[in-house]
Amino acid sequence: MRILVTGGAGYIGSHTLLQLLREQHDVLVFDNFSNSSPEALKRVKQLANADFEVCEGDIQDSVRLSDAFGTFKPEAVIHFAGLKAVGESNEKPLEYYAQNVSGSIELLKAMERHDCKRIVFSSSATVYGEAKYLPYDEQHPLQPTNPYGRTKHFIEEIIRDWAASYRGASAVLLRYFNPVGADASGRIGEDPNDIPNNLVPYISQVAVGRLKHLNVFGNDYDTRDGTGERDYIHVEDLARAHLAAINFTGETTGCEAINIGTGQGATVLEMVNAFESASGRSVAYKIGPRRDGDVARSLAAVRKAEKLLGWKAQLNIDDMCSSTWNWQFTNPNGYTQK
Ligand code: NAD
Ligand code: UFG
Repeated sequence: MRILVTGGAGYIGSHTLLQLLREQHDVLVFDNFSNSSPEALKRVKQLANADFEVCEGDIQDSVRLSDAFGTFKPEAVIHFAGLKAVGESNEKPLEYYAQNVSGSIELLKAMERHDCKRIVFSSSATVYGEAKYLPYDEQHPLQPTNPYGRTKHFIEEIIRDWAASYRGASAVLLRYFNPVGADASGRIGEDPNDIPNNLVPYISQVAVGRLKHLNVFGNDYDTRDGTGERDYIHVEDLARAHLAAINFTGETTGCEAINIGTGQGATVLEMVNAFESASGRSVAYKIGPRRDGDVARSLAAVRKAEKLLGWKAQLNIDDMCSSTWNWQFTNPNGYTQK
């Protein structure tokens, strides 16, 4: 199938591309490289031993989008492109609304202009906000607590309205929990620009010696050991979920939101221990105050994904830590060669 992938050079996009190519799909990557490197695409091509087209452009640019749709004529879109840093979204909310929300509207308009009716969108568990109950199922109220989360919520609603109004359209909103890990080859992985905000990239940079110690954000939560608990999902499993979702859009019309997680939680200290075992390195940490806006626990209800997509996570915390370490150890500076 011909699939246009926005944000395909990014962390989750590059892992998904690899699986799409291995399944013999034709892809076109549309990315402005604002948070990624063309090197990731080069490596995906090598790993898959396949070629694909790349269009450098911003999803807010309707002319560029039209060019890409006009020449490539995709049957479906996987929409990863967007800004994703919670803290930054508090400082630059308009930038987040422009790139994420306006950019998604431009994308949907281009799809309509070019008769493309299938989309899989990268949403996030952050749309749920403070838990009223756990695990979060897809019916849980949506009350995101920061501008980034609100962009995801608004885009979900926009896609839902679009799918309802456009005859034959089909959309899947994948609500990712905490994506971590890297391809088993160690050739592609997560490569944050600055000091990582997220736990696993931070731990791996401590293990490799780029950072001195991990700051654990609070140990007085109501969890097994007092540190925050999350539902980590291996990026390879997550990538597989996109292929299942694309197939699903071929069999259905309308719009479905679906959680993508394992249903199992790990605390910060459990992740530190798992990473130490996987890497054979020690990970120094200091307990510090809670981070603003953090919740104690986040866990996915995963039945809907199993029922509708026939998808279930297969990889565990050890796989997540060992693949992250393999990537970090062999690429200590990410895609930048130093
Ligand atoms: P990423 O930053 O690695 O990838 C995003 C890609 O989109 C990058 O290649 C970037 O250059 C590109 N991009 C950004 N703005 C663009 C624009 N205006 N036009 C064209 N390209 C643009 O992020 P990721 O971790 O791979 O996340 C992919 C998607 O999944 C994002 O929408 C993110 O919000 C969502 N998501 C990520 C997580 C996570 O923890 N990584 C969790 C939930 C949801
Ligand atoms: N943590 C630390 N120290 C750090 C970083 C994180 O102790 O240096 C803790 C956090 O307090 C939390 C856990 O590790 O308990 C996980 O934190 P992350 O920042 O890795 O992940 P979050 O659950 O806070 O948020 C992530 C993404 C969001 C997304 C959300 C749900 O950053 O964009 O998952 O998908 F919305």
